Amino acid sequence: MRLEGELVRKTSGGQLVAKKSNLSSMKGKRRQRRPDCMPSVVQQLFDTCKAVFAEGTAGFIPPPEDVFRIRSILDRLKPEDVGLSPKLPYFKNIDARRPSPITYLHVYACDEFSIGIFCLPPNAVIPLHNHPGMTVFSKIFFGSMHIKSYDWVVVSQDSIEPCRVVLPSGERLAKVKTDAVFTAPCETSILYPSSGGNMHCFTAKTACAFLDVLGPPYSSPERNCTYYFDHAYAKYAGNPDSLIMAKADGYDDAVKTPEHVKEEVGLLADHIPNSRGSTDADARAVDGKAKSISEVLSGMSPLDLGEGEGYGWLQERTGQPEEFLVVGAKYRGHNIVED
Ligand SMILES: [Fe+2]
Repeated sequence: MRLEGELVRKTSGGQLVAKKSNLSSMKGKRRQRRPDCMPSVVQQLFDTCKAVFAEGTAGFIPPPEDVFRIRSILDRLKPEDVGLSPKLPYFKNIDARRPSPITYLHVYACDEFSIGIFCLPPNAVIPLHNHPGMTVFSKIFFGSMHIKSYDWVVVSQDSIEPCRVVLPSGERLAKVKTDAVFTAPCETSILYPSSGGNMHCFTAKTACAFLDVLGPPYSSPERNCTYYFDHAYAKYAGNPDSLIMAKADGYDDAVKTPEHVKEEVGLLADHIPNSRGSTDADARAVDGKAKSISEVLSGMSPLDLGEGEGYGWLQERTGQPEEFLVVGAKYRGHNIVED
């Protein structure tokens, strides 16, 4: 979710708008570090992120020892370090018929990384979204949260370059990485630019709070946040239409419109076969890297495929989902001091 440095609110007309936060951003502020003080865990997190992501660009993956350093600090981070308590009003549903807004506490953001906290009342949902080119650490402070996450399926069979698997209607095949309830205390989870559950959605089973470290953060236009609907694998399992095997292009792997996909593989619309019955269409399909679903999946490992469980078709949504309502609040935890 792209929220760093912004407060998102809903107008009386129902539209989501964003305004710059002037409450809690530490960006650009310089404070003196007291040499006689043991740095707080929040400060240790900041210092470590500053070092680890110093050269971080999109697609950068920290080496294992640096991942371990950040994870170790997050595992020690307590709700009181960041000014959180389950008794805060952020975690109560005011209206029994629907979840209250999610509250976002902006801790820090620079060009290389960002730190923020999400406070979810029971049943609140953060819709399925991606993290293009990012490494993301997520630390749950308290409560229970269902996490469902996906990674794109990328196949390389009969192709020089890896390809993503896309339906002519635009849905793209993804593999379920996580589908479970996590209850604090639990290990910090990590996702990477193209693996580990790069697209995920959260549903609060109870009131809960988690902290995200994003390296690098969202940035327009190169790293925009994209939201998705997910459809069951079975919905298209018997689809007679062919798939389009479009070139995988690194972390920037958002589902494109069918027209863009067709351009990318060099196919005209009427060259994409609608059934497997046409020899001519099949020949074009092979040349143009379009294949039937069964052809593609038959080339995958049986261990990966199973019975089709563990896969889904992701459909890109336009803009930020209307039901995803987030408000900003002031971060009241330990201060960060920049050198
Ligand atoms: Fe996320």
